[in-house]
Amino acid sequence: MKQNLKPVKTSDGSYTFFSPEYDECYHSVKGGAILESFFKFSLPLYKDLKNKIEKNKIKSIKVLDIGFGLGYNILSLIYLWKKYFPFIRLEIISLEKDKNLVDILNWENLPDKLKMFSYILETLKKTKEKIYFLGFPSALYLNEKLEINLIFEDLRKVFLRFKKLNIKFDYIFHDAFSFLKNPEAWSYEVFLYEKNFLKNKGKIFTYACAKPIKRALLELGFSLKLNRITETYFKENLKKLIYELNLEFSVPEKYKKNPLKAIFEIFERHPGLEAKKDNLSKADLELLESLKKDKKSIFYRDTVFLNRSPKLIKLNREKSLK
Ligand SMILES: C[S@@+](CC[C@H](N)C(=O)[O-])C[C@H]1O[C@@H](n2cnc3c(N)ncnc32)[C@H](O)[C@@H]1O
Repeated sequence: MKQNLKPVKTSDGSYTFFSPEYDECYHSVKGGAILESFFKFSLPLYKDLKNKIEKNKIKSIKVLDIGFGLGYNILSLIYLWKKYFPFIRLEIISLEKDKNLVDILNWENLPDKLKMFSYILETLKKTKEKIYFLGFPSALYLNEKLEINLIFEDLRKVFLRFKKLNIKFDYIFHDAFSFLKNPEAWSYEVFLYEKNFLKNKGKIFTYACAKPIKRALLELGFSLKLNRITETYFKENLKKLIYELNLEFSVPEKYKKNPLKAIFEIFERHPGLEAKKDNLSKADLELLESLKKDKKSIFYRDTVFLNRSPKLIKLNREKSLK
C-alpha cells in the first residue's frame, strides 16, 4: 500500500496519522490518541479481567487486536499489564493489512512511561516478514510473559485460518477505520467469526456505536454495554493516567484552564462499546426490537467472505437501504 500518511497532533499531545486513502485519522484528534486507546480498549479489558482475577486463578490471556495501526491499543494494554497484572502471561495476535505502516512508526515521542516500551516496537520492526505465524508473514516479540504476533494480512484471510485451527481468544479489540469507509471490517460475517473465536463470556471492545453494528452484534446474540466516561471507573482511571503519564494537552482556548473538560465532553458524545458473549438482557432485546424497525440499522453482509471487494459490500447495503 502506498504510504502518504500525514502526522496529526491530538489533544493529549500524542501523534496519530491522517490516511488520505480512508479520508480519516487513525484516532480521535479531539479526544487524544493515547487517551482513546485507554478509554475504549485497554481500560474496559482491564476492568473485566480484574473481576475475573478476583474470582479465578488466571495464568494467561489471549487478545486479538484488529487493526494494529500505530500500535497504541496494544501499547496501552502493555502499560496496564506491566502495572497491574504482570503475573499473567499476555498473548496478543495483532492484524494489520498495511505491511508498510510499521516501518514509519515511532513510540519515542510518547510520554516517558510509554516510550519505555519502544524496544517492543523496534523488535517488531526488525522481525517484520522474517517470521511466519499461522502461515502468514508476521513480526514477533517474545519473552516468557509477553508474546506479540503481528500478522500482515487482511483480517478475513486470517479469520479463515483461525477457524481451521480453532484458535480462541479471551478478548478482541475491534479497531478498523469507520463503518462507512472500511466496510469489509464491519460485516455481520466478521462478527459471526469473532463470536466463534471468543471463549465463553469473552468480550469485543470497539469504538463504533453505529446502529448497523449494534444490530449485527445483537442479532448474533451479543449482550451490549456502552462504556461511558461518566462511569466512575473510567473517570478515575483516566484522571490517574493523565497524572502518571504527565500528558500535555493542546485544547481550544476556552478549555485552557480545564483541558480535561474538553476531553471528557468528547468522550461523553463518543462512548466505547463492549459486546459480551452472553445471554441477551431485557434492555438488549428492547434495543434489538427498536433497531429492527429502523432501516438505517441494515448492516453489511459479506456472504462470500474474502471474495467480495469492500466496494461491493457497501453497494449491496446501499441497495437494500433504497
Ligand atoms: C483506526 S486504525 C487502528 C488504530 C490502532 N488500533 C492503534 O491503536 O493505533 C485501523 C487500522 O485497521 C487496518 N485495517 C483496515 N482494514 C483491515 C483489514 N481488512 N484487515 C486488516 N487490517 C485492516 C488499517 O490498515 C488501519 O491500520
